[in-house]
Amino acid sequence: MSTIVGVAAGFGVAVLIPPTYEATGSVVLNGGAVRDPVTGQFLETSLARNLVPTIARLAESREVGQAAAAEARVPTDMVVDHVSAEFEQGVQIITIKAHAPTAALSASIANAVTHALGQHVEEHPIDGTGSVDAQPLDQATPSMRPILPKPFLDACLGGLLGSLAGIGMARARDQLDDKISDIDELRGVAGAPILASIPFDRRVAKSPLSTDRPYVPWAEAFAQLRTNLEFLGVDSRPRIVAVTSAAAGEGKSITSCNLAIALARAGRRVLLIEADLRRPACSRYLGVDGTVGLTNLLAGNVEPEEAIQRWGEEGLMFLSSGWSVPNPSELLASRKCQDFLREMREQYDTVVLDLPSLLPTADAAVLAGRADGVILLARHRHTRAKQIRRAVDALTKVNAHLLGCALNMVPPRQEAKGYGYGYRFDQVRRPEHDEGLHRSLN
Ligand SMILES: Nc1ncnc2c1ncn2[C@@H]1O[C@H](COP(=O)(O)OP(=O)(O)OP(=O)(O)O)[C@@H](O)[C@H]1O
Ligand SMILES: [Mg+2]
Repeated sequence: MSTIVGVAAGFGVAVLIPPTYEATGSVVLNGGAVRDPVTGQFLETSLARNLVPTIARLAESREVGQAAAAEARVPTDMVVDHVSAEFEQGVQIITIKAHAPTAALSASIANAVTHALGQHVEEHPIDGTGSVDAQPLDQATPSMRPILPKPFLDACLGGLLGSLAGIGMARARDQLDDKISDIDELRGVAGAPILASIPFDRRVAKSPLSTDRPYVPWAEAFAQLRTNLEFLGVDSRPRIVAVTSAAAGEGKSITSCNLAIALARAGRRVLLIEADLRRPACSRYLGVDGTVGLTNLLAGNVEPEEAIQRWGEEGLMFLSSGWSVPNPSELLASRKCQDFLREMREQYDTVVLDLPSLLPTADAAVLAGRADGVILLARHRHTRAKQIRRAVDALTKVNAHLLGCALNMVPPRQEAKGYGYGYRFDQVRRPEHDEGLHRSLN
């Protein structure tokens, strides 16, 4: 794009620049051979040849310029500023070049200068060398082709500069824009494996559960997440799995719900805990009443059996966040919370924790450190590499075990290219195929 702009700009400049014409005349220096005072022979080095540089400078002088301007009937500056004299070593010819806005004017200035130069040399002998003269050799003739502008050259130059500017701008943008744009980048920045690439699906806002449409690519991503999670923990399967992300709105709650559903569908005993006490959303996504839950339980007001509810045909168990409390961090960091999680770990195959974002508060880090493993979610072209690094640091500080990452809201086009599936350990399976896999793992 910048190349096209550059070409257009170069061409535009060429069109706007007024034309400049060049005419070339020349003078030849004659005479001035030096006689050896002893032998009376003419020396090989002629005085005229030695005077070429001096006379060339004279051609560009104001004095000669004034005389030439009078002859060509133009202002003196038009001559002095636009005339140059050139010569070759050992040749007694001086070339006079004149630039002017019209072809005729450039020729008449060049001719006037050659004439004025001849007269000046004749009238003002240098060091008494009256025998050297400067005779016009070639008359300048008008050339109809201007030397400037050169539209083709300017357009090429513009294009080249445009391309370079484009490359420079792209580099600068890449350095400033550190938003995660593919799974390879996420893997590199987090230093952890990729467990899923979850496509963007515009129906998620109205229909956030994979049970409603299990075979669309978005829903299949959760089956893939579950499968990859189980492969990671072949030796010691993480029983408490926390889902978190660096910032808000990156899809933690929807991922937690659908991962829990995917695990329950595979026949596991699963407890999903809405552990985000500040922005609880799982109750809403699952369509259940969340007024009694974790906070009531930790406050000692209810027993786990009263607070934990069964959800759906798959037998998923769900604990909502409960009443909102003024001190969520304190509650989550409490001994009681730790004991409760330990108890649940014994009772269920997997406990999925829907955590808050890692960066703004300490809540997420506290619980992440108590989980067996953490899934760090990033949102495509939204989460910054810097945020991922900070999130990984926060997890490291609490000795949390980062199991891997998932990239959410990946454009379906990027997914369709097969890019999103490059990390697969295996192909996505339909639930009925998964039964066999789980039996073999158990
Ligand atoms: N794959 C997806 N495709 C389209 N929209 C999505 C996808 N995943 C999540 N969303 C949308 O993103 C929004 C936030 O989702 P979710 O509540 O799961 O995020 P969160 O990280 O838990 O947010 P919070 O930080 O508030 O807890 C929801 O409106 C949801 O519809
Ligand atoms: Mg949430």
